[in-house]
Amino acid sequence: MGVGGMGRALASMCVQDADEAGTRRWRVRGFIDEDTKSHGTWFEGFPVLGGLEMVDRYPGARLVISICHVNHQGARRRIVETLGLPPHRYPTIVHPTAVVDPSCTLGHGTVLMPMVCALPGVTIGDHVMVRPHTMMAVDVTVRNYGTIAAQVFLGRCAVVEQDAYVGAGAKVREYGSVGPGAVVGMGSLVLGRVPGGEVWAGNPIRRLSSASSLTARGRT
Ligand SMILES: CC(C)(COP(=O)(O)OP(=O)(O)OC[C@H]1O[C@@H](n2cnc3c(N)ncnc32)[C@H](O)[C@@H]1OP(=O)(O)O)[C@@H](O)C(=O)NCCC(=O)NCCS
Repeated sequence: MGVGGMGRALASMCVQDADEAGTRRWRVRGFIDEDTKSHGTWFEGFPVLGGLEMVDRYPGARLVISICHVNHQGARRRIVETLGLPPHRYPTIVHPTAVVDPSCTLGHGTVLMPMVCALPGVTIGDHVMVRPHTMMAVDVTVRNYGTIAAQVFLGRCAVVEQDAYVGAGAKVREYGSVGPGAVVGMGSLVLGRVPGGEVWAGNPIRRLSSASSLTARGRT
């Protein structure tokens, strides 16, 4: 779900994902999106089937909600709560180049993109998006609906709370935390705790605004 950059990357990942015998693991049926203008069009060579109502039309299909723009925090949670589907309808997708220690826990609907590295004891909740080249040190926790952009470093025991967003190239020191629904800007250095619901950025890091001011801007 989600006609956008992450949906595009995810469809490409699924199309290319095959076992050693070359058998494809996924067949992409199409996209769904809440924007009615996209319905009936094609995106990345796949049909845009319709909106949320399409989920019932394909009861055997599995769904990944790929919406993860910084202005859309909370969107994945809202859609999951609206749909009320059983967890098995949401696959966990890990790119073959990701390195994930067997002791890690990954939730339903969670996606690890190329070259992600998760060291022992990492716990990642449901519907978490981890973009390429992110590094998670031992015992990191990313809770449900978190978004971790590309090339993020999360130090030992760092915690990213529910609905939070960590921008590209940001670093969180060991035992640092990003509060529920908070946003950490691209390239920031988090040495302590970013309060929930706020936007912080920079090095040294400072408060920019409330996270609701980003979501109020809506779809971009
Ligand atoms: C933090 C962020 C959400 C703020 O967006 P915004 O509200 O539109 O911010 P603005 O561009 O209006 O900038 C507001 C101020 O914050 C500063 N600022 C914005 N982002 C910053 C950042 N990442 N680091 C340092 N300062 C930043 C701006 O310089 C500006 O400062 P000023 O008021 O002193 O001139 C955005 O800049 C960001 O980093 N988004 C994440 C992008 C990303 O990681 N994409 C990943 C795709 S994989």
